[in-house]
Amino acid sequence: MAGAGGVALALAVSKAGALASLPCAMLNAEQVRNQVQAFREASNGPLNLNFFCHTPAAVDPDSQANWLQQLGQFYTELGVSEPTSVAAPGRAPFGEEMCEVVEALRPEVVSFHFGLPSAELLDRVKHSGALVLSSATTVAEAAWLEAKGCDAIIAQGYEAGGHRGMFLQEDIATQPGTMALVPQVVDAVTVPVIAAGGIADGRGITAAFALGAAGVQMGTVYLLTQESLVTDLHRAALLHATDDQTALTNLFSGRPARGLMNRVMQDIGPMSEHAPAFPSAGVALAPLKAAAEQLGKADFSSLWAGQAAALAREQSAQRLTEELAEQALRRCSGLAAAD
Ligand SMILES: Cc1cc2nc3c(=O)[nH]c(=O)nc-3n(C[C@H](O)[C@H](O)[C@H](O)COP(=O)(O)O)c2cc1C
Repeated sequence: MAGAGGVALALAVSKAGALASLPCAMLNAEQVRNQVQAFREASNGPLNLNFFCHTPAAVDPDSQANWLQQLGQFYTELGVSEPTSVAAPGRAPFGEEMCEVVEALRPEVVSFHFGLPSAELLDRVKHSGALVLSSATTVAEAAWLEAKGCDAIIAQGYEAGGHRGMFLQEDIATQPGTMALVPQVVDAVTVPVIAAGGIADGRGITAAFALGAAGVQMGTVYLLTQESLVTDLHRAALLHATDDQTALTNLFSGRPARGLMNRVMQDIGPMSEHAPAFPSAGVALAPLKAAAEQLGKADFSSLWAGQAAALAREQSAQRLTEELAEQALRRCSGLAAAD
């Protein structure tokens, strides 16, 4: 979870026996090396490094100017200046430099969001010994990922928090939910399927296994743990989250991602045809976000969360992971006994 997870969260889940992930999409090579070293010094557990692999769009000044115009009323209201630069903050796609980092650090798992890198880079990642995972939001994406050599597929349902991993289509209206997606992906591929989206307790984990998943990936439920890096404003919003408060929005980055509704999503509408291409939409929001946060408001902040946000718990990530596993094992063995 880029921006929300770091070494402390990775170590906590690793201690509980889960696969630790370090989100690398917003880090540079040196930061990745430092974080992996810190992890390895404290854990012998397996480690997943997660990267984005979008194709960066060229900066389009007209689109940025139009976007600034859409947001004009907010600059006036908050008395802040429009940003002078249109350069997006770091969310670089996986490339040569990160591939060298992977080859040197040899994580057990490398996972991608938004498809896969070039065949040449993917080959090198696989040759480093890493198992390769990537997110699919449809059966077609899952089949594509398997054909390109993915070792396991993360089936990311509509409920999931954060960015949708979608890469073969752009229509969010037709994205399937986890309950429908997982068994269809399981039927379509031969590699293991990891269910993601809306899974937040032992009931969800058991359901995912009943649908044929070999594992689960959980994000939102960890956002309230002590190790989560989300801001206090984000935490406060999560504490009051209800099932009907999240929406997919492209306002903060240019790509659809699920987060808690806030002022800018309400006023503009969560999806805007005017938002510049990923990842540059957030540049225009940055001064508004900073000014509002100074006033203690998350009106312009991305509050990533999935539809099961209300099930997130304030506790240590290690204990949470242990409890999730215990709950799921109890439920699974109950089902097996009932058979
Ligand atoms: C705050 C947040 C940040 C996320 N960042 C990433 C990321 O950097 N890379 C990625 O592959 N998925 C990311 N995701 C998506 C998760 O990997 C996962 O698919 C999702 O959290 C599962 O649904 P859930 O949130 O309902 O548990 C993020 C999700 C959240 C909530």
